[in-house]
Amino acid sequence: MFENVRPEDLEAGRRALGGGGVGAPLKFTVDRGEGCVLYDTSGRGFIDCTSQAWSLAVGYSHPKVIAAVQEILPRYTHIRTSFETPPKLLLAKRMAELAPGNLKKVSFVITGSEANEGAIKLALRNSEKSSTVVSLFDGYHGRTLGMINTGYPHPNNRFTAWGGPVVRVPQAYCYRCPIRLEYPSCKLACVDLAREIITRGAAEPPAALIMEPVQGNGGMVEFPREYFGAMRKLCDDLGMLLIFDEIQTGFGRVGEWFAADLYQTTPDILVFGKSVAGGFPLFGNLYRPDLKGFEPGDHSFTFAHFPVAMAAALATIQVIEDENLLENSRKIGRFFTETLQEMQSHYELIGDIRGPALMLGVELVKNRKTREPARHEADRFITEGLKRGVIFGESKYLGMGNIVKVKPPLTINESQAQQVMEVFRDVLETISSSRE
Ligand SMILES: Cc1ncc(COP(=O)(O)O)c(C=O)c1O
Repeated sequence: MFENVRPEDLEAGRRALGGGGVGAPLKFTVDRGEGCVLYDTSGRGFIDCTSQAWSLAVGYSHPKVIAAVQEILPRYTHIRTSFETPPKLLLAKRMAELAPGNLKKVSFVITGSEANEGAIKLALRNSEKSSTVVSLFDGYHGRTLGMINTGYPHPNNRFTAWGGPVVRVPQAYCYRCPIRLEYPSCKLACVDLAREIITRGAAEPPAALIMEPVQGNGGMVEFPREYFGAMRKLCDDLGMLLIFDEIQTGFGRVGEWFAADLYQTTPDILVFGKSVAGGFPLFGNLYRPDLKGFEPGDHSFTFAHFPVAMAAALATIQVIEDENLLENSRKIGRFFTETLQEMQSHYELIGDIRGPALMLGVELVKNRKTREPARHEADRFITEGLKRGVIFGESKYLGMGNIVKVKPPLTINESQAQQVMEVFRDVLETISSSRE
């Protein structure tokens, strides 16, 4: 069906597309992916440092993932939520085994926004009567009507009236401290301020606080380690459940199965997704067994039991273990960070380098002293990277739009990593010399 496609048919499709996805359409027609490399229809390969919205931890079409899917496809593609299948039960067992702390209850859905809404529903089920949720400045938890309010403030967003009550508090974004202090002499004053805002500014004691352990879409914001203990304590003191949205940070991206492991802080509810099913849609919640779970009908969707993705997830877990990908994520992440730090001493454009393992963001600035965001340069970075065969990520629509993201599949090898850094340096040089 897809051999010898006519260019005029592709063009007609382009004209017909109604939008609704994120970002300007890239004029990049994909032929296939292999490992960390994406090929266009002309046969040119690009090392993909976006992992397709950070979702391909084990790379494109990993053979073991494909084999697991092929084993399931002839038996069934869709099974309603009420039924059991071996992929569903075996994956629930594996997820409970991998879960940090005591988060031994599992539920599944198909998108991240739905999974975050599930976490909020669980929090509301476990709260006497509060409907309020606390979230962090620059957080991102999805674009459904329910989640849009919890995320990045979206100035003048047309849809926020349909969301529930949310109180946003400043986060530990230390490079651009929202309360203009310096870490560590601030002694995490943002957490104290959050406490004040919640206790004195919320209309009711909130049911939960939702946060990404490393903020992805809002600007690759990595928090100081002690922030996690302080936020856990804040939640315990104020009777709020702590929800970690680990949709980006989970499944090896930060060098551990979950950021909760890395930062040694267990939330009450964890939201997972993106990389879990090796390129198939699968998200969900892990939560404490002593919490009230979902009531029948609380959170059920037509395709929520997607056994094909569940089989893919079982294979993905196996691949992460067999190929030692948590260690590779830490090793290549270290190499990237050290190389970028060395580049920072030569190029004014690099303001800050952030993120554990392969969850890396580089904040570009016009001037190190003023820290003025270099947005145009970040846009250009993507174009120049593409010319040289590397797809870098950016944060165009959230945060300040001046972050270049380096988040390839965890399967990236040393020579590909070397190539990525050579291209990064070359692009820095090109942009820096054209500004002088
Ligand atoms: C941290 C985080 N939460 C939630 C979402 C929303 O997921 P989805 O787009 O599948 O609804 C995303 C997607 O980028 C995300 O990065």
